[in-house]
Amino acid sequence: MTRGFRLRATTPRRILRRAIDGGGRESHVIFEQFSAGGCQSYLVGCAESCAAALIDPEISLTDRYLAAAARDGLRIRYLIDTHTHADHLSATQQLSRQLGVPVAMHRASPAPFVTLKLDDGEMLAVGKLRLQVLYTPGHTRDSFCLCVEDRVFTGDTLLIGATGRTDLPGGDPNALFDSLFGRLSRLDPALKVHPAHEYKGRDHSTIGQEFAQNPRLQVRERTAFIEMMRNLNLKMPTHITEALRTNMSGGKTVAQMLAEAAASVPFMSLAELQARVAAESQELLILDVRERDDYEKAHIPGARLLPRGQLELRVNQELPDPTCRIVVYCELGRISTLATATLRSMGFQRAVALDGGMQAWREASYPVRSGADP
Ligand SMILES: [Fe+2]
Repeated sequence: MTRGFRLRATTPRRILRRAIDGGGRESHVIFEQFSAGGCQSYLVGCAESCAAALIDPEISLTDRYLAAAARDGLRIRYLIDTHTHADHLSATQQLSRQLGVPVAMHRASPAPFVTLKLDDGEMLAVGKLRLQVLYTPGHTRDSFCLCVEDRVFTGDTLLIGATGRTDLPGGDPNALFDSLFGRLSRLDPALKVHPAHEYKGRDHSTIGQEFAQNPRLQVRERTAFIEMMRNLNLKMPTHITEALRTNMSGGKTVAQMLAEAAASVPFMSLAELQARVAAESQELLILDVRERDDYEKAHIPGARLLPRGQLELRVNQELPDPTCRIVVYCELGRISTLATATLRSMGFQRAVALDGGMQAWREASYPVRSGADP
């Protein structure tokens, strides 16, 4: 009957259901769950209006979210982070720029790119759907849960069989106790629980199951709960520094810097450069942007040295002809990509980056030269 039910057979992690709205008409919820290294994110759409919200998107899945929304005929209207994530990189800011739609977070969020600040008891209208905000601080000061129809997106306030930790910036076990036992415990036990993290491949749980079986929710005395949360001794998340830096400020990740640079420059293969070196081509200026020590140990024959750290300051002196064809390399092919993007932005429109670096050049047993001269 609808595009929605046809998709059900091919995508087992998708749940589509019929609902009857207040006017007695049939409507449909389109729901899809995405997993990236234990981080869960969710696309929730109204099939009738084609409006959708994306909850807790993770940066590596950006293209998948857009592809899923396009496949389902959905238009993403809101990008929502249930809290400031310390353990993964949020895609909300990048998608907001791409799609021109607001980033919604709790008003306590410090992120400057949040254009829609939410508070307890408010709702977002996504077509016929209503996403209800339940403020649940504790894991962070800006944590909230979102109730939508028969499910609740719990962020890191409540996980399946666990809770969010309270030992990272903004964490407060006392507040988490109130959020769990004063707010979530009052929800309908049948509500499906969809957390922001799940490491054992479970799709969801229910409020009833969690309050009956979740070990942390069996500790119902405040002091004992706080004591338990303070003694979990969890190790720090792997990317905490970069996650907090970028999620709180809207700054770019290293991967984003590299991806943007790579998208703005052409590349030359190792084999192509080797053929030109062998032919002693004079047309190509080979630029080594590593440090002098590395250059003197071994460099590509004919290459000139201009370390990345000195590029902007010495470029006029070292590269007086902006029309020359330049191939830039470094050790691994990353710094050279950034350097090529910089050269292009400075007007060297024929600068290209080597696809690979000195390490790959050596591994390919291509010729090298040592010493201070090209
Ligand atoms: Fe978190």
